[in-house]
Amino acid sequence: KKVIHIVGARPNFMKVAPIHRAIAARNQLQQVLVHTGQHYDVKMSDVFFSDLGLPAPEVHLGIGSGSHAQQTAKTMVELERVFLEHKPDLVSVVGDVNSTVAAALVSSKLGIALAHVEAGLRSYSRHQPEEINRVVTDRLSDLLLTPSRDADANLLKEGADPERIHFVGNVMIDSLLASKERADQLPVLKTLGVEPRGYAVCTLHRPSNVDDPKLLGGLLSAIAHVASRVPVIFPVHPRTRKMISEQGLGSWFERSPNLRPVDPMGYLEFLALTSQAKLILTDSGGLQEETTALGVPCLTLRENTERPITVEQGTNEVVGTDPDRIRESADRVLDGQGKKGRIPEYWDGRSGERIADLFARFLGVSDDARRA
Ligand code: UD1
Repeated sequence: KKVIHIVGARPNFMKVAPIHRAIAARNQLQQVLVHTGQHYDVKMSDVFFSDLGLPAPEVHLGIGSGSHAQQTAKTMVELERVFLEHKPDLVSVVGDVNSTVAAALVSSKLGIALAHVEAGLRSYSRHQPEEINRVVTDRLSDLLLTPSRDADANLLKEGADPERIHFVGNVMIDSLLASKERADQLPVLKTLGVEPRGYAVCTLHRPSNVDDPKLLGGLLSAIAHVASRVPVIFPVHPRTRKMISEQGLGSWFERSPNLRPVDPMGYLEFLALTSQAKLILTDSGGLQEETTALGVPCLTLRENTERPITVEQGTNEVVGTDPDRIRESADRVLDGQGKKGRIPEYWDGRSGERIADLFARFLGVSDDARRA
C-alpha cells in the first residue's frame, strides 16, 4: 500500500518529517513525498530538508507564487496527474496552506482516502486564507488527526463523524524535541552577539498584518520600543521584506540599531535562537506552539488564535495589533512577568508514531489488522 505526503510551504516540512520517519521505520508502507514548490527560496525550503533529515522529494511540481486561485488551481492540475500516475491508497496533508487544500480537493474527487494532520484548528475568522483551507480540508478528510482536544470539539461541533477523529498530539513538537540537542550546539547566539535570555525574536508574515502599511508601521513602532530595551532579532519573511521596502518602512530599522533584520533562518538555527530568547513576538501559528513547548513567553500579534491551548496551558498571550498594548505587554514580559505555562497532553515527541500506527491500521497492513 502507498501513501503520498504533500508538502508545499515552510511550516509543512517539520510536520511531515516525523511521520515520514515513523512510517519508514515500520517498513509496512510505500511512501512518496511530493513538494508542490509553493515555497521555493533555498531559505524557505531546501534548508529544511537537510535540517530535518527529510529525503529529497520524489516529485517536485515547481508551482511557485501567484494569486490564491492561480496557486491553488495550478497545484490541483499537477497533483491530479501525479495521483493518477502513482495511484496512492492514502494522501496525507498537513497544516493549512494552499498546497494542503489543493491536495484535499484533488484526492477526494479521485476517490482516494485523505488524512489531515493538524485537523480541527479554528480561528473562526474567514478573513484568513488559512481558515478557509482548514475548513475545506477537514470537511473532505477520512482521517482527522488532531493536535489537541479543543480541535476534536470543533470538529464534533461541525458534525464530523467521531470515528474519523483521532487525537494524536502535536507532530511539530516531535521535530522540535528530536532537533533540540543539535540546535543547541550551533553558535547562533555568538554569531549574532546576543546573550541567553538577553534578546527578543520577532517574526511577521500574515497578510492581514503586513499588507496594510499603516498596521505594519504600527507593529514596527511597537517592536522598535522592545528594541530600545533588548536586541530584537527579526528574520524577515519575503512577503514582509517586499512590503517594508515598497512602503518605505525601512526607516524603523535605521532609527533602531537594536532592531536587527536578518534573512529567514533554517530550522535548526531558528530553534537555537528561539529556545534561548527572553520574549518572542509573532503572528505565526507554529511559533505559538513551539514557544509553549520551549517555555518561552510569546506575544501573538493577532486578534485571535486557532491554537487556544497555547494560551490556556502554554506561554502564549494574544495581544492584538494595537501598538500601545503590545508595548505594555512586552514591558511586562521583559520585567520578568512572562507566562510560565505547562506542556499540553501528547506534545511528547511520539505523534509521528501514533500517526504511522493509524495509517497502517487504516490501510490494513498493521499486525493487528492482519490478525483480525
Ligand atoms: C504561506 C501560507 C501561510 C504560512 C506561510 C509560511 C497559504 C495561504 N499561506 O504564506 O499559512 O504561514 O506560508 O511562510 O498557503 N515568496 C518568496 N519566496 C518563497 C515563497 C514566497 O519570495 O519561497 C514571496 C513571494 O513574493 C510570494 C509571497 O512571498 O508572493 C507570499 O508567498 P505565498 O506562498 O503566497 O504565501 P505566504 O505568505 O508565504
